[in-house]
Amino acid sequence: MSVVFSGGTVVTASGCIPADVRIEGEKIVAVGGGLARKGDEVHDVAGKLLLPGGVDAHTHFEMPFCSTPIADTFSTGTAAALAGGTTTIIDYITQFHGQTLGEALSIWHSKTDGKCHCDYGFHMGVTDWNSSVKEEIGRIIAEGVPSFKMYMAYKGVLQVDDAALYQMLEALKKEGGLLTVHCENGDMVAERSRELIAQGNRGVRYHPQSRPEAFETESVNRLLTIAEEADAPVYVVHVSSAPSMQLIVSAKMRGTAVYAETCPQYLLLDDSRYELPGFEGAKYVISPPLRAVKNQGPLWAAVEHGLVDVLATDHCSFNFVGQKDAGRDDFTRIPNGAGGVEQRMMLLYSEGVAKGRMSLPRFVELTATNPARIFGLYPQKGAIIPSADADIVVLNPGGSGKISAATQYQNVDYTPYEGWNIDGAIDAVFLRGQRVVEGGKLLEAKAEGRFIKRASFKKGG
Ligand code: URP
Ligand code: ZN
Repeated sequence: MSVVFSGGTVVTASGCIPADVRIEGEKIVAVGGGLARKGDEVHDVAGKLLLPGGVDAHTHFEMPFCSTPIADTFSTGTAAALAGGTTTIIDYITQFHGQTLGEALSIWHSKTDGKCHCDYGFHMGVTDWNSSVKEEIGRIIAEGVPSFKMYMAYKGVLQVDDAALYQMLEALKKEGGLLTVHCENGDMVAERSRELIAQGNRGVRYHPQSRPEAFETESVNRLLTIAEEADAPVYVVHVSSAPSMQLIVSAKMRGTAVYAETCPQYLLLDDSRYELPGFEGAKYVISPPLRAVKNQGPLWAAVEHGLVDVLATDHCSFNFVGQKDAGRDDFTRIPNGAGGVEQRMMLLYSEGVAKGRMSLPRFVELTATNPARIFGLYPQKGAIIPSADADIVVLNPGGSGKISAATQYQNVDYTPYEGWNIDGAIDAVFLRGQRVVEGGKLLEAKAEGRFIKRASFKKGG
């Protein structure tokens, strides 16, 4: 039997159209007027928005991050994603020192096989660059993982040097891969942290001082220089500040193939959170840190004008009690990261679309279509078009909600957005044609998420 959504407004990256959507099995087969036939299961979605399922291109689930285990497993993280309207995530594998990329990939497959509630792909995080790792790049791409990551921060743990970045970019250009990069000057972060601690400045409020905007800007500038020398495309994860965004915009205008990602936390929260009484500020210890509020206007402008390419979360949850509190007497011991995969879509809808800071098509473009396009999931994911997977969010613009740790699916004891009022509500989420969320509640008990093998970005590859 076919399913038809009737009477709603279909939102794509290029516009909003009143149209029916017809689904057969796992696929969308038609979008247009009057699609219902006798015997169809017809859902009346008059007054509702039909959005493509969200694609969160930046998550970290179920791994030790700088030796602290992330609170969300693949099971809890992907369940939370679905509840929040995200039907596909791309999670970062970490190749730890001494591991081959192949070993790291099979570890991630064993963590995820049969455990994920939404569909998923991987990026390969490379921390131990050498000639045999370079040899593996083509094989990893052939396994369906054509995007990679390197860190310019986290000295002694994840950080790589400029030569590694350059060699990696050259290798990926040849093999048809895309490099994503965490831009902060890790040597300077380590040095500034050492200085602050030596001066007795151990509290949470010193976290942003240990990694100021300038350390990000310098790193973005260095990366762009290296990428331009290699003549290879590059994707900058979690751009947090206006000066870094300006560098990326200038590079785009020079013709450099650079993509910018930012996240709800940099658009909506600011560094005053580090001054909260007690140890409360630890909830916002992330890297890059939250910035001065003056960055938010330029970042929103970049979102509105399509200069930001992707809105992702960098979901990396740690409990306040039992994990963040390891750093009560030394901010450098607070695990860096926070959750958000569940809140991304509705926070951005409410704060972005409902408040008039971005259009509905831009919202769809940045939360679903662009991440799918950039990372090779399109047209299977990221759009409501015939032949795409029937990943659909039914959003009620007249609904409302409130964010709270008490009601979230994320397996973490707080949310940075506690008490935020949300305009709009998710009525239902469909994953490949199957209803998995109803009235904001997860229906699906089984983990039906599939690994999505992506192709090389090489032309004809
Ligand atoms: O604080 C953060 N962002 N933790 C997650 C890992 C990263 O840096 O992307
Ligand atoms: Zn991250």
